[in-house]
This record gives sequence, structure tokens and C-alpha cells, in this order.
Amino acid sequence: MVEIAPFIEKLPKVELHLHIEGSLEPELMFSLAQRNKIKLPFKSVEEVRKAYDFSNLQDFLDIYYQGMGVLQTEQDFYDLTWAYLEKCAAQNVIHTEIFFDPQGHTGRGIKFETVLNGITRALDDGKKKFGISSGLIMCFLRHLSEEAAFKTLEQAIPYKSRIIGVGLDSSEKGHPPSKFARVFAKARTEGFLIVAHAGEEGPPEYVWEALDVLKVNRIDHGNRSLEDTALVARLVKEGMALTVCPLSNLKLCVVRDMRNHPLKKMLELGLKATVNSDDPAYFGGYMNDNYKAVAKALNLEKSHLLTLARNSVEASFLTDAEKSVLLQKVNAYGRS
Ligand code: HPA
Ligand code: ZN
Repeated sequence: MVEIAPFIEKLPKVELHLHIEGSLEPELMFSLAQRNKIKLPFKSVEEVRKAYDFSNLQDFLDIYYQGMGVLQTEQDFYDLTWAYLEKCAAQNVIHTEIFFDPQGHTGRGIKFETVLNGITRALDDGKKKFGISSGLIMCFLRHLSEEAAFKTLEQAIPYKSRIIGVGLDSSEKGHPPSKFARVFAKARTEGFLIVAHAGEEGPPEYVWEALDVLKVNRIDHGNRSLEDTALVARLVKEGMALTVCPLSNLKLCVVRDMRNHPLKKMLELGLKATVNSDDPAYFGGYMNDNYKAVAKALNLEKSHLLTLARNSVEASFLTDAEKSVLLQKVNAYGRS
């Protein structure tokens, strides 16, 4: 571990699974609450952190939706996104594809445009000031209706050039991908790339549906795919990427102990696994923290870490030319 930590820190990394609202640190939550004259149910940052003790996905989501209530103005969304990009710059993340949850905001009376403009202005500045490239993925909240998702898709269509893909998140169990078959079919005809959270808490059948019904380009999480050998064979054959989130899995009790995390097994099976931070402000760490935690627990070697970094580049929504530039960076680092 003595030498793996600095190796991870300097490794050029790509992030593919990050909910921007999940990067809201308690300090920023307090300062935005003050700016917007919102009363929080917590007295201090320490009290907020203490509340981040989850036994499942829903426990977390309840606090996550409450936390995002402090985001009101375009500048708030800018500040949130900028704070995340500063972490990326500090942790050598060179490209990031981030999720946002418009329904978490429009449902509270915030305009879709307010959210989108704040986030994209920060992403543009991230490219200019840090050289970090990015993509934006709009997620539908799966606990809400198909009709609500359709409305959200309609709102996004005029801004197609600023949103690379659509995804599916929130409470998984009881809300299978097939619930949104028609919304995703429409999104595909509009030219959006497709991702979906599947197999985090939900069964392997949800991963099959994400592939066959939604026709995803990547699977978010996908841990429970390992319960189904035919599914693993399919994912390997198609080179379908899984955006795995180790610290999230630990905090949401998807794994009981990091030493039991399936990441190494995924790589051994030939799955295109990647490492990501999901909701770093809630789960205890950004990209380097995720890489380090899993590397330590599973005794990963430099070759595993380079494979993970290459997988993320290959699974990104960049063009082939852009991918080859980033792959050269990772490969050059591996030889140095
Ligand atoms: N799973 C489902 N929905 C989410 C998550 C997650 O890990 N994070 C934010 N919304
Ligand atoms: Zn997620």
C-alpha cells in the first residue's frame, strides 16, 4: 500500500458514475442554506456527517433528496459543480461524465434551465481552467411515473446538444427498467446515449432488461450480475462496461466488507469494470479514495489499476480520437 497510494494519485483517471447532487459537501450545504435563508434540520456539519449512516439505498436517498433542497439558483448549481471539478483537478481526473437529477429540482419549483445552465457553465469553465473534459447525463427518477419521465425528456430535447445521454436512478427495487421502456425508446430516437442503474440492489433480471429493453451503452453498478452466469457471459461478449462504486457499495451495504468486494472477480471474469465515486460527499470519498480503498482491501496491483483506468476511457462517451489521446496518457503513465 505504501507505493500503491501515490501510484493511484498520479494515475490519469476518468469518472463515469457521479451524481452531481451527491457531491454536495455538508460545508457547502450550510453555506447555501444560509445564502438562501433555508433552515436545515441539522445544527452543525458534524451532525450532518453523523446522519450519513445508511443501511440501504432508500436510507441514503431520503437524506440525498433532503440535502439537495438548498440548491435554488443557477449560481448554487454552478458552485456545486465547480467544487466537484476542483476535486477532480486535485485528484487527476481528466474526464468526467456526470449525472444530474432534474426531477429532484423541478419537483420543488426550480426551473430545468436554472439547473442546466449552472451545471454546464461550470463544466465549460472546468475545461477552460483545468483542461477537464466532461459529459452530462440526465437521469430519470425511477420511483416517479413514466409520464413524469416523459415530461422531463420533453424539457431536455431543446438542450440536446448539452446533454450526451439519459440514465435511470433512485429506488431500484420495484421499479424495473421496463417501466420506462417507451421513454428510453423515444430518448434513443432523439439521439441520446443510454445508461441505467441496474443490479445495485435489484436482481439480475433488471440488468437483462437494461440491456434488452432500454438498450443501454453502459450499466451503472451491475454488481448483482455476478449471480447469473449467462448474464456475465453476455456482458463479457459485448464488452459492456459496469460503472462500479466501491465506497458506495460499502456505505449502502451492497457489500458487507470491502474485502468481499467483487471488483477483482469482475476483472478476472473479463468484465469491463470501472471505478467511480457515485455520491462522494455522502459515501466518504472521491475517485482516489475509491481506488485506494478497493486496492488495499483486494491487494490490487498496478496492472489492475491500469486496466481499470483504461476500461473507463474505453467505456466513456468520447469519440475514438479523444479516447486514443487519453489511452496514450494512461499507457505512458504505466511505462513511467
Ligand atoms: N443508486 C440509485 N440512485 C441514486 C444513487 C445510487 O447509487 N445515487 C444517487 N441516486
Ligand atoms: Zn449512482
